[in-house]
Amino acid sequence: MDNLEQILQEAQAAFAATDNAAELEQVKARYLGKSGALTELLKGLGKMAPEERREAGARINQVKEQVEQALQARRDAIQQKELEKQLAQESLDVTLPGRGHGQGGLHPVTLTLERIERLFASIGFSVAEGPEIEDDFHNFTALNTPEDHPARSMHDTFYVEGGDLLRTHTSPVQVRTMLAHVAKHAHLERLPELKVIAPGRVYRVDSDATHSPMFHQVEGLWVGEDVSFADLKGVVSDFLRGFFETGDLQVRFRPSFFPFTEPSAEIDVAFMSGANRGKWLEVAGCGMVHPNVLRHVNIDPTRYQGFAFGMGPDRLTMLRYGVNDLRLFFEGDLAFLKQFN
Ligand code: PHE
Repeated sequence: MDNLEQILQEAQAAFAATDNAAELEQVKARYLGKSGALTELLKGLGKMAPEERREAGARINQVKEQVEQALQARRDAIQQKELEKQLAQESLDVTLPGRGHGQGGLHPVTLTLERIERLFASIGFSVAEGPEIEDDFHNFTALNTPEDHPARSMHDTFYVEGGDLLRTHTSPVQVRTMLAHVAKHAHLERLPELKVIAPGRVYRVDSDATHSPMFHQVEGLWVGEDVSFADLKGVVSDFLRGFFETGDLQVRFRPSFFPFTEPSAEIDVAFMSGANRGKWLEVAGCGMVHPNVLRHVNIDPTRYQGFAFGMGPDRLTMLRYGVNDLRLFFEGDLAFLKQFN
């Protein structure tokens, strides 16, 4: 078995003489490969007598294991050396400034919505919400707009499969909120006042510099025993002055029509200074909640009344920040958006 001893010593020496991984694998093939020295010896076992074969086989396998161990040890050593070399070459400058993370910010319309919510919260309005996919009843019928009513064509509606629609305004939230309010207080003799705003997205088939198929509205609703048009004027005028942070603002209520309010008005504002000086701009629709709407939600219109308004926070944002194209809000251009944070 001198031959085996010799193979082992040779292999150990050959492994030790290599100094990179690729070379080592080639040397390995000489001993452990398909026609390597040890493989050849194993092949020869078949010709031996059974007694002899068992002993020789065990001996060859033992040497094979030793060769494999030597190979693995050399592999580890080479890898360690390469790592050390790499570490010595690369350097890390821990004094460099960090790359940082982009800081997010709020969208200008979100800033406006939060501002509106704060201002109305300060006079006791809470925030209500409703679904963006609505049904015909909440978006039209309960709002005193029956099937054949001409006012339905005032809205270019997106319908979804099955007959539901993308709400064309936030007014259906009036209906949902009043129904829930009535149900909640059914046990009381007198219905408590209801004071809510409902901000959210609405949808219409419309698109140009001042119209987007998706835009925002903020609905307002105050129902009680003696809520009047004077309250409407006071609440909205104070809100607008607070929103624009100026007393230098004129507010006008221009008679108009909505099926769900009577009387109805359009709210216009004009600034007394600046680029738009003296120019009337429409910012909201409003009116006294129509008795038929109250009937639809089981509120007695001979006992309760209220006002509602629906304003356009996109328009308010454009006016407040001097933005001239509504589409800028929905394009996601960071150069534009960064200016608000
Ligand atoms: N819903 C109306 C619109 O979208 C606005 C409005 C709301 C008018 C509430 C009166 C009362 O045009």
